[in-house]
Amino acid sequence: MADQLIIFDTTLRDGEQSPGASMTKEEKIRIAKQLERLKVDVIEAGFAASSNGDFEAINAIAQTVKDSRICSLARANDRDIARAAEALRPAGQFRIHTFIATSALHMEKKLRMSPEQVLEQARLAVRFARQFTDDIEFSPEDGSRSDMDFLSRVLEAVIAEGASTINIPDTVGYAVPEQFGALIRSLRERVPNSDKAVWSVHCHNDLGMAVANSLAGVMIGGARQIECTVNGLGERAGNTSLEEVVMAAKTRRDFFDLQLGIDATQIVPASKLVSQTTGFVVQPNKAVVGANAFAHASGIHQDGVLKARDTYEIMRAEDVGWSANKIVLGKLSGRNAFKQRLQELGVMLDSEGELNAAFARFKELADRKAEIFDEDITALVANGGEHA
Ligand code: KIV
Ligand code: ZN
Repeated sequence: MADQLIIFDTTLRDGEQSPGASMTKEEKIRIAKQLERLKVDVIEAGFAASSNGDFEAINAIAQTVKDSRICSLARANDRDIARAAEALRPAGQFRIHTFIATSALHMEKKLRMSPEQVLEQARLAVRFARQFTDDIEFSPEDGSRSDMDFLSRVLEAVIAEGASTINIPDTVGYAVPEQFGALIRSLRERVPNSDKAVWSVHCHNDLGMAVANSLAGVMIGGARQIECTVNGLGERAGNTSLEEVVMAAKTRRDFFDLQLGIDATQIVPASKLVSQTTGFVVQPNKAVVGANAFAHASGIHQDGVLKARDTYEIMRAEDVGWSANKIVLGKLSGRNAFKQRLQELGVMLDSEGELNAAFARFKELADRKAEIFDEDITALVANGGEHA
């Protein structure tokens, strides 16, 4: 049986670190529920020690989401780790993700710590986290620019303390695919007991190679977890795009013989929800989720697709959640059309009562506005009718 490829979504943590993408607690809960419908394996819901707001959001998500494992980031110190555990407690089973930088540059200039101090702090952090959960992820920040010998020693130490996932970040998006894949492979070969942990990759997109680097980490390096965000949201040029790695792995099964738990039909609703919540527009030519991703403009292509779709389509639009018929919503629309559009936008209301109330607000708005756009619908659901 093929190995599982774990999809670790960090839209609510690294994605939110994108300047201008901060989200309220309610918005985060809504996105977490959509990530659960998408069947991501792990949701990194935030960084509990970073603010009370983040703590509250993680805590609420830990109470709400049942089918995905919830995780919080924590620096490698007792206070951060204890705060993460407290926020996550309602989930029962949860993951703590602790990190410390291991590159010479970060240790010397940012942390002002010696390599031996960093190694000891990493070891103690994982030991401390173990009292709260068995599911501990460790990340050597700036891993791709760290000295191999030192990195191997740190990873050996944290695995010995019980870290069950080792995540190698390309923090500044500096790696290139062959090199990054080879880095993961050599670490797995040289770190003692490397098979006691799942190896993971976390790539940034500064040179536009986050997806390629992540896939190289899997194919060349043997990583079995990819960290990613919806629409590739994240610091600077963003993180690995969830929709791209998932559809690459699903479409090229001849290359990636791996099991994926993801329900791809929830990809477009997740993309729309994240875009409308953060205000970050998805570029039309973005793979999988861009408005033009399945559009054919040239005559030759249109002719080809009409004769046989696979002439110019390697995936089916409906398989990633694009709806075939676009119903225009207005004052004559019924409750079912309204409900379906909510689903397409990744918004699921908790009860029939909430749906009825939202539908009543929709009808009231439709009396004033000829056509109701997707943005109107998310706004009227998000703020309980306080539509701008
Ligand atoms: O990019 C990075 O190094 C991170 C770590 C905290 C995993 O986001
Ligand atoms: Zn990151």
